[in-house]
Amino acid sequence: MSRIILAPMEGLADDLLRGVLTSIGGYDWGICEFVRVSANVLPAKTYERICPELLNGSKTAAGTPMRVQLLGSDPFLMAANAARLVTLNPAGIDLNFGCPAPTVNRHRGGAALLGEPELLNAIAGAVRAVVPVNIPFTAKMRLGIEDTSRAVENAQALVAAGIDELIVHGRTKLDGYRPPARWEWIDRVRAAIDVPLIANGEVWTVEDFRNCQAATGCPDIMIGRGAVADPLLARRVRGEEFDEATGGWAEIRPAVADYWLGVRKKVVPVHAGGRLKQWLAMMRRHYPEAEALYGLLRPIKGAADIDAAMVAEGLLTPERLAA
Ligand SMILES: Cc1cc2nc3c(=O)[nH]c(=O)nc-3n(C[C@H](O)[C@H](O)[C@H](O)COP(=O)(O)O)c2cc1C
Repeated sequence: MSRIILAPMEGLADDLLRGVLTSIGGYDWGICEFVRVSANVLPAKTYERICPELLNGSKTAAGTPMRVQLLGSDPFLMAANAARLVTLNPAGIDLNFGCPAPTVNRHRGGAALLGEPELLNAIAGAVRAVVPVNIPFTAKMRLGIEDTSRAVENAQALVAAGIDELIVHGRTKLDGYRPPARWEWIDRVRAAIDVPLIANGEVWTVEDFRNCQAATGCPDIMIGRGAVADPLLARRVRGEEFDEATGGWAEIRPAVADYWLGVRKKVVPVHAGGRLKQWLAMMRRHYPEAEALYGLLRPIKGAADIDAAMVAEGLLTPERLAA
C-alpha cells in the first residue's frame, strides 16, 4: 500500500486546516509549515505555536502524525535547534531545501542552497547526529535553483548525511509553481539513491496520483494544493467513491463549519473571513457548492456577518457559534 502524505504549506495549511483535512482523512502523516532557524535556539513555544500538534503527541486531533520542518543554512544552529526539537517528541523532523520565497532565500535558506551540495550534506549530517534513530528524519528538496543539473548530486549529498527518506518537489526554484512538475526528473533522482523517495508536485486528481506514481516510480506521494482543493482526494485514491450527485460535498460541509469555528477562535476578526474564503476559493476547482458559498461570502467583510451567513446557510447553529 502506498503512502499519502500531506505537504507543508506555510500560510495555507496551518494547524486548523491540517486538523480538518486529517479529520476527513486518508493521510498517513504530514509536515507542518517551516520553522525558520536564523540566529538562535528557538524556544519550545515557537515550535508549539507553528506546530501545536506537538502538544498532542505530535498528532492532529484525528490522530494523524505531524512532523516538524526546519529551514536554515547554518549546520551548527540547525543541529542545536533539532536537539531542542527532539525534546518536544516530534513525529519526525524534516529539512526544507525547497522554499523559493525571496525573503527566505536572501538569508540563505530553502531552495537557495541547492547550488551547494556540500552545505546540504553538512546541515543534514549535523542534524542527523542529534536526531535519535526512532524519530524519522527526512529532507524535502526542489530539483535545483535554475536547472536540474545538480539534482542527483544534491539528493546524494543528503542521503550520504544519513536521512531516512527524501521528498522531491519536481520543480526548480526558477520554475516557481508553473505546471507541469517534472516527474521524469523525480524518477532519475529516485534511481540514483538508496533511500525511499516520496514524489511531490501537481497531483490534483486520482488520475494525476496514478500518473505521478507511474512516471516517478515512487509508490509514495506527497500532496499539497490538491489536498486543499479536494479534501476527499486521499480517500478517493484509496478507492472510496462518493455520491455522484453531491461529489462528496456532504462530507466536506461539516468540516467547513468546523474550520470556521476554529478560525473564529484563533484569528483576529479582520483576517478571519479571508481564511475561509481562501479555502473555499481553492475548492471551487472541484465543487460547485464551494463556488456558490464563496460567491455568497466574498462581498461580506465582517466576521460577525459571516457568522450570520453561515447560520443562514444551515452550516452552523447560533448555539454552536456561541459555545
Ligand atoms: C502556500 C504554500 C506554502 C508552502 N509552504 C511550504 C513550506 O513551508 N515548506 C515546504 O517544504 N514546502 C512548502 N510549500 C511547497 C509544497 O509543500 C509543495 O512542495 C508544492 O506545493 C508542490 O506540491 P503540490 O503541487 O501538491 O501543491 C508550499 C506551497 C504552497 C502553495
